[in-house]
Amino acid sequence: MQLKFLPSFVKRKGRITRKQTHSLRSLSEFSVKNIQEIEDLSKHFDKCYLEIGFGNAENIIFQATNNPSYLFIGSEVYMSGIGTLVSGIKENNINNVKIFSDDIRLLLDQSPKKIFDSVIIICPDPWPKEKHHKRRLINEFFLKMIHDFMKDDSNVYISTDWENYAEGISELFKENKLFKPSLNKSFYKDSLSKFERRGKDEGRDLFEFNYEKV
Ligand SMILES: C[S@@+](CC[C@H](N)C(=O)[O-])C[C@H]1O[C@@H](n2cnc3c(N)ncnc32)[C@H](O)[C@@H]1O
Repeated sequence: MQLKFLPSFVKRKGRITRKQTHSLRSLSEFSVKNIQEIEDLSKHFDKCYLEIGFGNAENIIFQATNNPSYLFIGSEVYMSGIGTLVSGIKENNINNVKIFSDDIRLLLDQSPKKIFDSVIIICPDPWPKEKHHKRRLINEFFLKMIHDFMKDDSNVYISTDWENYAEGISELFKENKLFKPSLNKSFYKDSLSKFERRGKDEGRDLFEFNYEKV
């Protein structure tokens, strides 16, 4: 099978718990499949945020709970993470989160619409070996993709705990005329994500990027 995009993720089997399996049965209630659906839903909210690779969903649940007037679209391919988010949505009676449970580039490959006020990417897979750098999600092509779906007055937040990836991201933004540095972080978070914590525990610094659409 020919893939449209080089995978930017490792399909982790992970252990799926009973609770996650149970939650995944109702995934369709919380799913979005296309941009039109997101645009229609976003009309009922003040802002629309996209978090790509939400992992164990700590951040998106925190954001959604603290910003009930914003719509949060979470994208992830990792089934146990998706199951955790569905459980979190149900347990906290959250009604402002929808899930795109596939490679985000398949969503962003649709006809562009300016719908996102903010795009958040916390610790994208680092692909540390040089021969795998081509799999890194953040590249010139990807920045163009997200740019096409961002509103005029919008911003993007990216963090990584891999210095070499941070250098690459910094270079990309410097060369790229679609974004300019922003002094404001587009969102507040009160704790580290699983991968931010892991980086810290393993002695790595966290590099953060805040840019706004030009
Ligand atoms: C290193 S983990 C970080 C998870 C979480 N943000 C955190 O900080 O704990 C990166 C996540 O991005 C997801 N991911 C990678 N490429 C993706 C893509 N193209 N579309 C959606 N999710 C993706 C992976 O499945 C993985 O769960």
